Amino acid sequence: NKKFTVSSFLKAKKDDEKISMLTAYDYSTAKLLDEAGVDSLLVGDSLGMVMLGYENTLQVTVDDMVHHCKAVTRGAKRAMVIGDMPFLSYHISVEDTIRNAGRLVQEGGAHAVKLEGGREVVDKIKAIVDAQIPVIGHLGLTPQSINIFGGFKVQGKNEEQAQKIVEDALLLQEAGVFAIVLECVPEKLAKLISEKLKVPTIGIGAGKYCDGQVLVTQDMLGMYTDFVPKFVKQYSNLCDSIKESTKRYIEEIKEGQFPAKEHTFKMDDEVLEKLY
Ligand code: KIV
Ligand code: NA
Repeated sequence: NKKFTVSSFLKAKKDDEKISMLTAYDYSTAKLLDEAGVDSLLVGDSLGMVMLGYENTLQVTVDDMVHHCKAVTRGAKRAMVIGDMPFLSYHISVEDTIRNAGRLVQEGGAHAVKLEGGREVVDKIKAIVDAQIPVIGHLGLTPQSINIFGGFKVQGKNEEQAQKIVEDALLLQEAGVFAIVLECVPEKLAKLISEKLKVPTIGIGAGKYCDGQVLVTQDMLGMYTDFVPKFVKQYSNLCDSIKESTKRYIEEIKEGQFPAKEHTFKMDDEVLEKLY
């Protein structure tokens, strides 16, 4: 199975084939998702909420991202691994931005990076691309702006917001991104943007006309229920299955059923006698 690359993203759009993306934060999950055939794994800064239990993504650091990128890239054979740039890692200066994007690639092993925002990050995107690191954009509901938005809300419903998102998408494409994540925007706006762009759109809460889809894996598997957005489809209910298994484990310990003979190591009685 051939590796999924930047060219695969662009080819998929040309060939009208949908791109599949999921988040991953650790080795064993990345390996499973890769073996199942997902095209791309996003080490999202959503790991702050899903893995670290923060209320939002703002406390995630570049060190956190490097740590998780390392684990995911070891598990991914075919999938393209995208490292998310966390809050404040691309806001200060172009130099700082290149250094931080570079760390996700050089230390973390990521194949590309993703960052949030429109016209205000165009100079940073150009600089990262000039450093030979592929970039994915992210428009619509950009969770690092939660304190400006005042909550996780659908973006681009009114003309002014929608117009801005369309313009930003074109500016990001011009700046050199190879794909754009559209989060929580109306389906018809995502359709319009997907038609206008040469690079693929990857939707999350953006309807079926995007060129690809991404979900947080723990949402998709039904194992993270602190907050379940409307756009999530749960393909499993791992919460119940993990709790059930854990209850049985506890019970079997209490009742002396676990461990059984087959989980246990033997030693010669002769050796044992000498110990008594
Ligand atoms: O951090 C993340 O998981 C993301 C996706 C939801 C697009 O940015
Ligand atoms: Na993110």
